[in-house]
Amino acid sequence: MQARAFRRPAAALLAVAFAVLPATGAQAADSARTSGTGGSGSTTSHPSDPLVWGKLLYEEGCASCHGLQGQGIAPSPAIKDSGAAAVDFEVSTGRMPLGTIANQALRRAHSLYTAEETQAMAQYVATLGNGPAIPTQQVQGWENADMALGGQVFRTNCAQCHSFSGQGGALTWGKQAPNLMKATPTQIYEAMLVGPNNMPKFSDQTLPPAEKRAVIKYIEFLRQPDNPGGLDLGRLGPVSEGLFGWFGGFGILVAIAIWIGVKAK
Ligand code: HEC
Ligand code: HEC
Repeated sequence: MQARAFRRPAAALLAVAFAVLPATGAQAADSARTSGTGGSGSTTSHPSDPLVWGKLLYEEGCASCHGLQGQGIAPSPAIKDSGAAAVDFEVSTGRMPLGTIANQALRRAHSLYTAEETQAMAQYVATLGNGPAIPTQQVQGWENADMALGGQVFRTNCAQCHSFSGQGGALTWGKQAPNLMKATPTQIYEAMLVGPNNMPKFSDQTLPPAEKRAVIKYIEFLRQPDNPGGLDLGRLGPVSEGLFGWFGGFGILVAIAIWIGVKAK
């Protein structure tokens, strides 16, 4: 009876915790946008011309660091020649707008802008200089790309930073190559096209569009490989998997020893 009475409030608490957690996360992101950069946050009424709207959003959220002409204000880089692709990559992954200056902007769980707002800003920044457009056409058909080619390209060009399983890894200067499991096909293509932060650019001469699509296909494959068997430990690597086996196995032995002890009494 007592155990039952305890179990219900505990379950209720757990349910409440799960319901509240994502909500507070979203709130934190929203207030980061309004307090950090003074974004309008209003999506209901806006100029119908995307360029006018994009300029407005850019001036509110980005110009304080990147300058009104995208010329950059040290230490923030110039972005006038970064192109729509870079803006779409940085904003859709939630890296931009940056809250406080850091040597590497990190991916946020959610972008602070809607897809429409992001498009408008990307279009506007594209008018400031010369940079790559969003690779909409080029990404298409990645599902039918050559997987073996993708694996080969990935191992030669990407694995040294992002690891062979795409889980990411540490770089010098406290920077990190992120885990690739969250990026969309477009974001993967854009990353290769623009070379964000420490990542090199892979031009169409070094990596033709067909090879870029093949890499996308391979990364998608890495996300749901047919596990050869056993418990999936998030591909932590041999050391941690061994450790897990050691402690897990040890725990079972201890449990059996205790059980035998209790039975013996
Ligand atoms: C607080 C200052 C700050 C704000 C606000 C900010 N940025 Fe940035 N931005 C940076 C810094 C610093 C970097 C370089 C760090 C990095 O790439 O990780 C950067 C990098 C970028 C890049 C990559 C440049 C390249 O060519 O690789 C783009 C594109 C960009 N920002 C766009 C934007 C947009 C669009 C906004 C507004 C929505 C914005 N930023 C708001 C500071 C800022
Ligand atoms: C020299 C190391 C290096 C190499 C080589 C490299 N990357 Fe990156 N990559 C990075 C870094 C660093 C970032 C984070 C950029 C930032 O902070 O804005 C990154 C970011 C990314 C992202 C964004 C992930 C996300 O969730 O936002 C993708 C996708 C990506 N890389 C794909 C690739 C692919 C595909 C290749 C090979 C064709 C590659 N990278 C090669 C260092 C590297």
